[in-house]
Amino acid sequence: MNALFISTLLIVLSTLISTQANARTAAGVYRDYCADCHGRNLEGGLGPSLTDSVWLYDNTDQGIEKIIRDGSIENGMPPFAATLDDKAIRSLVIHIREKASQANNDESVGAVEQGLVQTKHHAFELVELAKFSGITWAMAQLPDGSFLVTIRDKQLWHLQPDGSATEIKGLPDIWQRGQGGLLDVALHPEFEKTGWVYLTYSESQDLFSGMTTLVRGKIEQGKWQQQQILFSGDSDDSSSAGVHFGSRIIFKDNHLYFTIGDRGRKEQAQSLDHPNGKVHRLTLDGATPADNPYPDAKYPSIWSYGHRNPQGITLNPATGDIWSVEHGPRGGDELNLIKKGLNYGWPEITHGMNYSGTPMTANTAKAGMEQPEVFWVPSLAVSAVHFYQGNQFPQWRGHLLVASLRAEQLVLLELKDSKVQSQEVLLRNQDRIRDVIEGRDGSIYLALEDRGTNSSRIVRLEPVETPAQ
Ligand code: HEC
Repeated sequence: MNALFISTLLIVLSTLISTQANARTAAGVYRDYCADCHGRNLEGGLGPSLTDSVWLYDNTDQGIEKIIRDGSIENGMPPFAATLDDKAIRSLVIHIREKASQANNDESVGAVEQGLVQTKHHAFELVELAKFSGITWAMAQLPDGSFLVTIRDKQLWHLQPDGSATEIKGLPDIWQRGQGGLLDVALHPEFEKTGWVYLTYSESQDLFSGMTTLVRGKIEQGKWQQQQILFSGDSDDSSSAGVHFGSRIIFKDNHLYFTIGDRGRKEQAQSLDHPNGKVHRLTLDGATPADNPYPDAKYPSIWSYGHRNPQGITLNPATGDIWSVEHGPRGGDELNLIKKGLNYGWPEITHGMNYSGTPMTANTAKAGMEQPEVFWVPSLAVSAVHFYQGNQFPQWRGHLLVASLRAEQLVLLELKDSKVQSQEVLLRNQDRIRDVIEGRDGSIYLALEDRGTNSSRIVRLEPVETPAQ
């Protein structure tokens, strides 16, 4: 009786302790269960360093999960399967990856030194075109070389190459809240003939909630005119949350694709009854194409689903590949190859954890759900992606430029046969990068924003010939 009581008590206690451990942040769990042997900063001690590049065991995520679960008792690594559940072990792997990345982060790669950035293949300077007050979101270059620039707080500017700018009047009612506001701007593929300009922004039907909307219109005498609404959600789909609106627009074969984030309602990313957490496809005048994958869904514009907050999308015109970057949870930012009708898994599967550092799920893969081509641990906060085709930086041609907010990096992803071969940081620590575009002459332009001063800059990467080394 007594023995039974004590063993029951022990089971209850150990369940309590492990439940507690499993709801805690990965950093806290690491400190309590691992730091004594592996060092406070994972630098090693009784156990090996977890931040260097030397691994005794399989260093894939699955391999690291396995050694934490099973241990290596004879060599002094205790097994944690009884103490930590799969979710907690998954979050420890993310913690180890984050710390390793911090420890190995070479701040000199992509840094501006004496006005110059030297990358593997090209050197460049940053040339500032203009400054704006407010947070910039997107830009597009007009045929005459001038630009349209969006500021999230409801402003559209016409920027001349000499830096002078005029504001376009008469925009629709825009609901600016958190990550919402005026978002992307894009030109009709035959803009010179049609004059159509496309915008995405957050729209509110009742002041208290909003949803991503797609419109087109024309700019005449400095005014937004002839607006047509091409997509807007139901009032049911509006949310008061100021997060995850997407949104970017691209064109391919006389269709347009645009993205909407999950609006903070992550389960809905899996449902075809909701427009959020999706990539949508429409004709250029907003009709549903007959060959979309879900013609009977409430939103037949859905092209792919299971997305968290896709803010970047780009086309490789040679192959027709559509690439998208999306903000994941902490350690779960993704690059995806977007294909018709597929499910990209959010929130059922993710490589990330909650922002607080507590576990989210142990599931990184499931049947019927696509894997990202790349995921970033730690997250960069990927905001935009562009498939580069220009002549100004010939070695970057045919590859992807990825812009990021939190990490303040511009990253080159080298592609071969639609697979990412390697990554190189081209630029760092020059403010959060909202957009990266290619000018008509192959120039690369960045839209940068600084939350501290609530201001933005448009810069060009100016190639510089450096003497052969
Ligand atoms: C009592 C000391 C001790 C504790 C506590 C401990 N480890 Fe270890 N760990 C070791 C030793 C020793 C090894 C090397 C085992 C070997 O040589 O086979 C190791 C190996 C590892 C490895 C494999 C490293 C490689 O190079 O392949 C990982 C990953 C790891 N531990 C993670 C953890 C985590 C996460 C925790 C906490 C949940 C933890 N360890 C707690 C001692 C410890």
